[in-house]
Amino acid sequence: MRSVCRMTIVACVLPTMAGAQQRPVESTPTVRQLHATMIKPASETIFNVGREAPRTIAQWVAISSAAVTLVESGNLLMTFAPPTDRPTWIRLSRQLGAAGRAARSTAEARRLGTLMRTSDRLVVVCETCHARYRKQEPQE
Ligand code: HEC
Repeated sequence: MRSVCRMTIVACVLPTMAGAQQRPVESTPTVRQLHATMIKPASETIFNVGREAPRTIAQWVAISSAAVTLVESGNLLMTFAPPTDRPTWIRLSRQLGAAGRAARSTAEARRLGTLMRTSDRLVVVCETCHARYRKQEPQE
């Protein structure tokens, strides 16, 4: 009887666990939510550098954290690649991650000029992806 129970556990529970491991980001429901919670606020922190140079350590740390969020956003975005047009989506998601990594290292080195150029690069990544994949809606 015991071994039957064990077999049931192995048969039913393990496949579920394996499935969960294959899709670790299933709880992130939509591209829109990913933008609202991570991409938009983090990119605003970085874009803001052009308007107001960071002065305090706390401001630099906030930029560095936002950059890490962008790196993670790039990883998450990859999982939303449209099945019919994956390679470009994945490339752009990687570019978002790369811009995030560059922003992080320049923020840690406190290099304002380089950070501003990274911010410009970031805008290009956002816009390139939107031009191709975002349905045309009233501009924000
Ligand atoms: C890999 C592709 C991709 C990248 C990179 C990307 N976006 Fe998007 N973005 C989308 C798509 C697709 C939508 C439309 C989502 C929807 O409406 O379902 C969108 C929507 C948005 C929206 C509207 C969200 C809403 O609530 O309707 C904003 C704002 C936005 N993106 C900002 C950015 C910014 C800023 C960046 C760069 C830091 C960026 N995005 C990078 C694909 C991308």
